[in-house]
Amino acid sequence: MDGPSGSGKSSTSRGVAARLGLRYLDTGAMFRAITWWLLQRGVDVEDAAAVAALADAPVLVSGTDPAAPSITVDGVDVAGPIRSAQVTGAVSAVSAVPEIRARLLREQRDIIGAGGIVVEGRDIGTVVAPDAAVKVYLTADPGARAARRTAELTGTTVEATHADLARRDRLDSGRVTAPLAMADDAHHIDTTPFTLEEVVDQVVRLVEERADGE
Ligand code: DC
Repeated sequence: MDGPSGSGKSSTSRGVAARLGLRYLDTGAMFRAITWWLLQRGVDVEDAAAVAALADAPVLVSGTDPAAPSITVDGVDVAGPIRSAQVTGAVSAVSAVPEIRARLLREQRDIIGAGGIVVEGRDIGTVVAPDAAVKVYLTADPGARAARRTAELTGTTVEATHADLARRDRLDSGRVTAPLAMADDAHHIDTTPFTLEEVVDQVVRLVEERADGE
């Protein structure tokens, strides 16, 4: 499940995983956790060489229960702090560093293993899991995305979120390594007119159709 921030990826992915009894992985949380760790150490996240040098240092543990998403870095539970405005403002720079992406790609593929999992991110259908059984690309109009995202974050306003989303879209889509992109064989769903339940229904139907076809 790929798409820009606020398109409904997290809620939809968790809903689909819960409905189908599958595991769930939030790859954005992995980029955010490393970003939090770098900021704690006072690393300048715009300094790609400094970020790259530390890419393999922190130990991440990502939970895969859709009912209780969890992530720790060096044993510290960072599920809350990774949603701060500070981490949100810094994460695009960190996620553009190839060494960070290479490290997380390995871990993401290890967790995905034989499948049975809903994975959300920006490059899942294109890079991380090009053989995924079902690929979904979610979008929503900018106003809807900003409103949803503001509700998930702490210490921000809809206006600030709107500007931050536009900035992150530019960075996430424009970076050289694994940019945000829709796979050729992905199903595109614009979630703007739908409730969460309706989008979950649509994705579950795609999975069931795929299973029926096998
Ligand atoms: O989905 P999110 O907003 O929590 O993701 C945080 C950032 O991580 C986002 O700005 C882009 C980056 N990211 C990425 O580059 N690749 C992924 N697979 C997931 C997230």
